[in-house]
Amino acid sequence: MVVGMKKYALVIVAICLYQWLCMANAREIVHHNAINYEELKCNIYEGKWVKDNSYPLYDSSSCPHIRKEFDCLKYGRLNQQYLKYRWQPQNCDIPRFDGKKFLSNFKGKQIMFIGDSISLNQWQSLVCMFFSSVPHIQILQQRSGSYNNYTFQEYGVSVLIFHSPYLVDIVVEPIGRVLKLDSLTNGDLWKNMDVLVFNSWLWWYRAGPKQPWDYIQIGNEKLKDMDRMKAFKLGLTTWANWVNTKVDTRKTKVLFQGISPSHYNGAEWNEPKVNNCANEKQPIKESTYRIGLPQASYVLQDVLKTVTKPVHLLNITALSQLRKDAHPSSYNAFKGMDCTHWCVAGVTDTWNELLYTAVTS
Ligand SMILES: *[C@@H]1O[C@H](CO)[C@@H](O)[C@H](O)[C@H]1NC(C)=O
Ligand SMILES: *[C@@H]1O[C@H](CO)[C@@H](O)[C@H](O)[C@H]1NC(C)=O
Repeated sequence: MVVGMKKYALVIVAICLYQWLCMANAREIVHHNAINYEELKCNIYEGKWVKDNSYPLYDSSSCPHIRKEFDCLKYGRLNQQYLKYRWQPQNCDIPRFDGKKFLSNFKGKQIMFIGDSISLNQWQSLVCMFFSSVPHIQILQQRSGSYNNYTFQEYGVSVLIFHSPYLVDIVVEPIGRVLKLDSLTNGDLWKNMDVLVFNSWLWWYRAGPKQPWDYIQIGNEKLKDMDRMKAFKLGLTTWANWVNTKVDTRKTKVLFQGISPSHYNGAEWNEPKVNNCANEKQPIKESTYRIGLPQASYVLQDVLKTVTKPVHLLNITALSQLRKDAHPSSYNAFKGMDCTHWCVAGVTDTWNELLYTAVTS
C-alpha cells in the first residue's frame, strides 16, 4: 500500500513537472513570438533519421542542374545508403514533399535563398525537387549581378539564389574593401520577394587571401579586424533591424536557416583520430550530438529574439549534425575533401521538406 502510494505520488509529481515545463515552454513562445513555432503543431526539428527505401525523392542523374561541387554520384560515390534516410519528427509527421502542390500554392511567387554556398546547396536541391516533380517542366534561367533566377514557367514560380555571405554590405572605397556591419542595401530587392530564406556563417572567420574585405566598419569607425563572433552578431543585428523596419511580413515570409554543421573533427562523434568525413557511411546513432550546438547557433538564436516580426528559424543544425555520412567528401569534380557542403540529392532535400512544411502550414 505504502509502495503504491509512493508510486502514485511520483506520478503526480511527474505530471506536475511535465505541465510546468510545458507551460514554461508556452510562455517562451508568447514571449519570443519571433520564432513562431506556435504556427507549427509540433517541433519538426526534433526527431530521428529512419531508413526509408522510398528515398531519395529524385534521381540526381536526371537533374541537369547540379553543380560539380555537389553531384556526388556522378563523381564516383558508390555507397548510396546516405540517400535512404527520411527525417522523422518525434511528435508528428511531416508531409511528403509534393512539388506540384508546392508550385501550385506559390503560383506567380518568388522564393529567394540569400547567403553563402550553403544557401546555394539548398537552392540546387529545391530546383531538382521541383524539376523532378513535373515532367517536361520548362525552366527559364536568368542571371543578374549577384543572383540567379530559375523560373518554373507553367507556374510562374521563381526560385532565386542571391550570393551574400555576410548579408551586410562590402563596399569598395579608396582605402580598400570595407565590410560595413551596419549597412544592408540589397534588402531593397529582397523585400519584394514572397519567401526569403537567409543564412550566414561560413565566411565570418575567413582570413588571409580568402577574406574578401580589408577593413571592417561599425558606425564611423574603420578597423583592421575585430572579434569575429562579435562581428557576426553585429551583422545579424543589422539584418534583424532591417526585418523589423522594412519587411512587410504579411506579404513576405521570412525564414533563417540554422547553422549548417561540418564534420572534420571525429572527436565530435567519438572517433578522435578521424579528421574528415571520408569514410563515414552512416549517420550518428544518438539522437543528439555529444558536443551540443555550435556557438554561432546561440548568437543566431539571441539575435532572432530581437526580431519583433514573425521569422521562422529553419532549425536544421542538430538534425544535420547527425549526418556525417552525407557530405561530398572527395566525390566532387575537384577531388578536394569537402565535409562542409552536402551531396545533392541528400540532406538539403530534407531541409526543403521542412521548409515546405514551415511555409505551407
Ligand atoms: C525572375 O524571373 C521572372 C521571369 O522572367 C521575372 O518575372 C522576375 O521578375 C525575376 N525576378 C527577379 C528578382 O529578377
Ligand atoms: C533549435 O534546435 C536545437 C536542437 O534541437 C534546440 O536546442 C534549440 O532550442 C532550437 N532553437 C529554437 C529557437 O527553437
